Amino acid sequence: MSKHDRNNLFERLLRQIHAIIGGNRSRNEKLESVCRLLRETVSYYDWVGFYLVDPERDRELILGPFAGEPTEHTRIRFGVGICGQAAATGKTHLVDDVSKESNYLACNINVKSEIVVPMVKEGVMIGQIDIDSHTIGAFSSDDEAFLKQVCQLVTEIM
Ligand code: SME
Repeated sequence: MSKHDRNNLFERLLRQIHAIIGGNRSRNEKLESVCRLLRETVSYYDWVGFYLVDPERDRELILGPFAGEPTEHTRIRFGVGICGQAAATGKTHLVDDVSKESNYLACNINVKSEIVVPMVKEGVMIGQIDIDSHTIGAFSSDDEAFLKQVCQLVTEIM
């Protein structure tokens, strides 16, 4: 897919996500729809999920709605794995080849690359979107920019 086609696809997805977020279903149903839409539409998004900061535990993420294979990593401590590193630093983590990342929690042997983008509401990190791909080096700065916009939309209902 050309960069132009991909950015058109991302623009269309942002409009669809905007509509999902503005709908009248529950927050979890909306988050689940966003995961499903992204996984079904973007060919290299093989697992899409939200991890949310657990308000009841110190520096721990809890798995929220997701689309794809179930994962054993339903709770992740800050600093542990790619998700935990993104949570600890508040920064996007983009890993082209997970086999070369020593601080990594494997969910599925088919996963080759991963991107995690933090969600921030009023200056406070509340969670993150996590995407796995079965393709090495699947994600680019276009995905990062797109997913930051997805996070901004989703943050409206958090
Ligand atoms: N691979 C992640 C764990 C979450 S799963 O990808 C769903 C990590 O290293 O934090």
